[in-house]
Amino acid sequence: MARTFYLTTPIYYVNAPPHLGHAYTTLIADAMCRYRRLAGDRVHFLTGTDEHGDKIAQAAAKAGESPQAYADRIAGMFRETWRRLGITNDDFIRTTEPRHQVVVQAILQKLHDAGEIYFGEYGGNYCYGCERFYTGRELQDGKCPDHQTAPTFIKEQNYFFRMSRHQEWLVKHIEAHPDFIRPERYRNEVLAFLREPLEDLCISRPRSRLQWGIPLPFDPNYVTYVWFDALINYVSALGMPGSERFETFWPHVQHLIAKDILKPHGIYWPTMLKAAGLPVYTHLNVHGYWGLAGGKMSKSIGNVVEALALADKYGHDAFRYFVMREMTFGLDANFSEEAFIARLNADLANDLGNLVSRVTTLVVNFAGGVVPAPRAEGSQEAEVKAALEKARAEVDAAMEEFAFQRALIAIWEFIGGLNRYVDATAPWALAKDAAKRERLDTVLYTLAEALRCLGILLAAFLPHTAERIREILGLGGGAMGLADLGWGRLAPGTKVQKAPALFPRIESASPLPLTPPLSPKGERIKVRGEGQGGGAKMTKISIEDFSRVDLRVAEVVAAEKVAKSKRLLKLTVKVGSETRTLVAGIAEHYEPASLVGRKVVVVANLEPATLMGVESNGMVLAASEGNDLALVVVDRDLPAGAKVK
Ligand code: MSP
Repeated sequence: MARTFYLTTPIYYVNAPPHLGHAYTTLIADAMCRYRRLAGDRVHFLTGTDEHGDKIAQAAAKAGESPQAYADRIAGMFRETWRRLGITNDDFIRTTEPRHQVVVQAILQKLHDAGEIYFGEYGGNYCYGCERFYTGRELQDGKCPDHQTAPTFIKEQNYFFRMSRHQEWLVKHIEAHPDFIRPERYRNEVLAFLREPLEDLCISRPRSRLQWGIPLPFDPNYVTYVWFDALINYVSALGMPGSERFETFWPHVQHLIAKDILKPHGIYWPTMLKAAGLPVYTHLNVHGYWGLAGGKMSKSIGNVVEALALADKYGHDAFRYFVMREMTFGLDANFSEEAFIARLNADLANDLGNLVSRVTTLVVNFAGGVVPAPRAEGSQEAEVKAALEKARAEVDAAMEEFAFQRALIAIWEFIGGLNRYVDATAPWALAKDAAKRERLDTVLYTLAEALRCLGILLAAFLPHTAERIREILGLGGGAMGLADLGWGRLAPGTKVQKAPALFPRIESASPLPLTPPLSPKGERIKVRGEGQGGGAKMTKISIEDFSRVDLRVAEVVAAEKVAKSKRLLKLTVKVGSETRTLVAGIAEHYEPASLVGRKVVVVANLEPATLMGVESNGMVLAASEGNDLALVVVDRDLPAGAKVK
């Protein structure tokens, strides 16, 4: 049944451009909303920018701009970043917009009228970076735990929200709703905090000290404390309570934040809502922190990584995949380019990219590029269908809890199963026997249908890749949803295009051997699947051993059959400036003429050997499975002589 879903990200401060941390929250929010739309739900997705307060006023002054001009510029950068990353937010709220200010003032007035706000004096330790007072207990060695700077003691008259009044109610609410704040560790953190008496919250700043804020409706000498202003964005973006949009979406609101802003969201916000007579959110979903090389990453501390630079460098889908796959929701994670490249090569280029190119090549080579009708289904096909159902159920369950990593693991289990299905059914072998045509058709249909399902299942996580998969099957651009995952909807007769590489492998400086090892005999590189299904044992070699093999790109300048041999071709290849002759056992798979001009990969430092009277100076690499054989090539044009490692 269709549900309603309203998801918010934090509104980000405009005192610095977007970075990886902001991008992570916004990307997972986007994946969640895309998923819920696929499920047929009515979705509203909000993000925006937090533009008032000391921090912003100071950053604007430093940049020599007015706070508004400065906020306009940085808010524009956030908007543009989200546009380029393909974020599908339905709204973007800025706290300097009039639609926000009127709601903040209306709520303040209501609380004031209800006696929830009073005027008083307060002296305390104030951190300008965090824009809040710290209690002695919260400071670490007398310093702000976030900024590691000594707070300033400030004494002034201000307005206070009677937060302490609602402490008991909040504890009861959290206890009665175990997943109100999740994962559990953050619920426990909030409950631990609530074990001590809650102080009232100072919600104003005197105008003499700060002008850049929303004036209090009941005292023009004060502006609103930035957190009190900012939290209300989640309401103001929907319009005044009572408006149609508010009534539709507010009862279903869920917030997504990182652990750095747990206290305002776990304590201030629910008590503010309660006091204002508004329903509280259904779930507060809290994720951990991304770090770089051990250090915490945040714009106030430095160590900033610009989200777009990374995403542009590696591709937006790869970036999405990495951050969602790497971080367990709720826990911290570290970002490293090496880990990124390793995942890209293993999960995207190898597992997914290979599957798509294998399946489309098989359909093009053995069925003329047209999906055949399945005619002889057996237990192997039943397994594929069961694996799809399992993946689908697991993705559903994982997404209920924001467990993006688990959802991706489930989809990749399905992908792994499909690669094993290709190996086990060996369509290239079936194609050699006319009596096995029905079986071959069934295998090809099963694979093409599984690809169609991946084009749906991946849509929330890798939107471009999923779209390309659907395009390959001629289904691009059409409306689709999880309901279309029902097996068998791919019409026989559908035309299939041969897929270009979806994810080119990235060469890395990483010491990890990212390419599969040489076979023990050293004859050929075995590509994925070959020999693995049968559990063949491979001897492990060290990276030094591997580096003794001099692999090079070589250009074939001439090719001819070796006299009296069915198997051998004599190739003349250029390796850098050197031309040499070698003999390759590929005559049954390649016409000599078709090889001229092609770049292949050769072992360049092999001892010469004489085969059928021809001296071979090196060996061409090829992958084989059963009777099928394919030359190993590099997927971008590189000069002959380029080293392969
Ligand atoms: N303006 C407040 C939020 C007000 S919401 C009513 C704010 N802004 S912020 O620009 O500092 O953004 C904080 C949020 O950005 C985090 O909660 C998280 O969503 C994201 N992240 C910023 N740095 C991050 C990491 N290093 N790791 C993960 N997420 C991070 O706080």
